[in-house]
Amino acid sequence: MIRTRLRRWLLITGLGSLAVVLLSAPVSAQSTTRDLIMGVNRQLMILAVPITIFMTVLLLYTVLRFRNREEPKPTGENRTLEISWTVATALVLLFVGLASYQVMADPAVTAPQTVEEVEGDPVEVDITGQQYLWLFEYPEHDVTNPQKMVIPVNQTIFLRVESRDVIHAVHVPGLALKSDAIPGQVNTLQTTVTEEGNYTLFCAEYCGEGHSQMLAEIEVVSQSEYEQWLEDQKEEA
Ligand code: CUA
Repeated sequence: MIRTRLRRWLLITGLGSLAVVLLSAPVSAQSTTRDLIMGVNRQLMILAVPITIFMTVLLLYTVLRFRNREEPKPTGENRTLEISWTVATALVLLFVGLASYQVMADPAVTAPQTVEEVEGDPVEVDITGQQYLWLFEYPEHDVTNPQKMVIPVNQTIFLRVESRDVIHAVHVPGLALKSDAIPGQVNTLQTTVTEEGNYTLFCAEYCGEGHSQMLAEIEVVSQSEYEQWLEDQKEEA
């Protein structure tokens, strides 16, 4: 009787969690970084949602079923049960470790320290934060532009993030990019944007009264438009 009911609950739990996973919004990747992070997030959700539902159902079942016991009896030693939950936990942790490591080890998530380590011919931009604006410098082209970064689509971008005064932080949620901007320290980011469009860069570290206005625009355009923009900037200068 208990077994059948438990089995039925397990089935409902399983189907319920599958529905949750399938109904959750599909991953739309605007950058290789976002693709990787959302991918691992999804994998972990597929694992976490059934476990959460299973544990909740088990807890509710136990509470409801045994709520009227006058004299609670402790569970005796059960080696099979102990071995199974140890192994199950180890397997879950192993899966989490392997899935996360694959993503963490990717340069699009953990960028190399120098541009020399980046494969291909990346576009380099130095981002400097200062109270309360962002400066974008293209060292290969001798171009500096405040408040707006233009980059080409489908090409590796290498960013060096610094600060001129206090600690700021670069955060571009649309591209899943985030890095602290610290005075006297260079942090790096690497990504490839796969969709043209405009993205907003937010300062994500409280840096003073102008913090909330410390925004910049990131415009992702075709290769030819990018080159044209660089030319225009040089002419203006
Ligand atoms: Cu800069 Cu907050």
